[in-house]
Amino acid sequence: MTASMTTRSMDNNDFVAIIMKDHEKVNELYDEFNTIGNAEDQQQILFEFIRELSVHSHKEALFLYPLMEKVLPDGKKLVKEAIDEHRTVETLLQQIDMLADDVQNISKIKPLFKKLMVDLTKHIEEEETDLLPSMKENLDKSTADQLLKDWQTEKVSTRPHPDAPMEASVNVLAEADRKAAQEDKLLDKKRFGSSKHANDDAKKILHH
Ligand SMILES: [Fe+2]
Ligand SMILES: [Fe+2]
Repeated sequence: MTASMTTRSMDNNDFVAIIMKDHEKVNELYDEFNTIGNAEDQQQILFEFIRELSVHSHKEALFLYPLMEKVLPDGKKLVKEAIDEHRTVETLLQQIDMLADDVQNISKIKPLFKKLMVDLTKHIEEEETDLLPSMKENLDKSTADQLLKDWQTEKVSTRPHPDAPMEASVNVLAEADRKAAQEDKLLDKKRFGSSKHANDDAKKILHH
């Protein structure tokens, strides 16, 4: 039956489904950004987009790409290309991130955001049509389960880091990401804490 097939393909036990869900989320946020007219609301969506895409990108670099390099026949080359693409996208995301705290910058951000989405859409398409299905075929069950577990439980940095040592060993990258995550946490506290969507108690603490 079609319904049960859909349920199965969206099963949370499937690392491909969970990665594709992330892709869907950033696409939705971009659509929302474009349909909402109010700059303050656009800014909040942007904050969320920056966090979602950063986390996704860093999880791939830490958990997915090292496996890809190991198990795909031309893994080394594919990962190198993927890292280059992440770097291009994260460089744009960093430019946006630096402008995002001032709501006056929304109009300056729009063309950068549009450019980012062109690159990102191409990258996502490659992952979904090519890389993820190959990974699913080539990963044994316990490795796939571990990847899913890491994806769901590990905390990673939440702001763009195009200069992260993505070509280095997993340990070096993980260490750099741990440090970055601590700084990002403080920055995010400031950003999301002062959000108009923050609850009243948080606002009181921040403003008094
Ligand atoms: Fe990616
Ligand atoms: Fe991705």
